Amino acid sequence: MAGYLPRHVAVIMDGNGRWAAMRDLPRGVGHWEGMNAVREVVEGACTAGVEVLTLYAFSTENWRRPREEIEALMGVLQAFAEKERERLAHEGVEVRVLGEIERLDERSLEAVRRIVETTRGGQRLLLNLMISYGAREEIVGAARALAAAACAGLLDPESIDEDAFRSALFTGGIPDPDLLIRTSGEMRISNFMLWQLAYTEFHVTPVLWPDFTREDLFEAILDYQRRERRFGRVTAG
Ligand code: IPE
Ligand code: IPE
Ligand code: MG
Repeated sequence: MAGYLPRHVAVIMDGNGRWAAMRDLPRGVGHWEGMNAVREVVEGACTAGVEVLTLYAFSTENWRRPREEIEALMGVLQAFAEKERERLAHEGVEVRVLGEIERLDERSLEAVRRIVETTRGGQRLLLNLMISYGAREEIVGAARALAAAACAGLLDPESIDEDAFRSALFTGGIPDPDLLIRTSGEMRISNFMLWQLAYTEFHVTPVLWPDFTREDLFEAILDYQRRERRFGRVTAG
């Protein structure tokens, strides 16, 4: 793909429920269909040469959905881990799961452990699955960890700078997203990576997540390549 590539692409995968409702199907069916789009976007990211792909799969606020829907989403997570982990490992995709995963049920937690273990060390693409993730909780957690270290005498409060704060986030060590894609046309962040998105380019598409293909990813990358990133300066930096 010509032009400069986003190193890190993040996606708010939205619209599964509407996809199902349009077909008079239960919302859970939309979540199952969404799995195909995850496969598409992983392959598209590998083909394009993206280094990091971050997918928002389940937010802290999504715990407030009806129990049946949460169960359907956890079922999709377990099935995805089972179906994809060997293949992802073979493709050189390293999976990390970021969020308050201690809130997951035992089976989902086991699925997470297995996919992370099987794919460890993959060099082609880093795939972050954001599950039980909320940016405000992440920021508060980082502040709490730094405060605890300072109270224990392990850290001088004066030494807390942006780098120290960044390292205390779930994404510590991973570069910020260059491009954020949100499907289903919604123009909001929904508590996603509030720190990391400070200078990220946004691409919103009306396509519902289950219909998202690698071509839609390439279109988003082309859109990104037309942007002039300024980082507060007068010319592109
Ligand atoms: C995205 O689809 C999946 C999750 C948020 C877990 P939605 O379930 O939010 O679908 P819509 O927005 O209701 O269409
Ligand atoms: C954001 O989508 C969360 C995920 C995609 C996992 P939601 O559908 O939960 O967000 P809102 O409620 O429309 O803001
Ligand atoms: Mg939604």
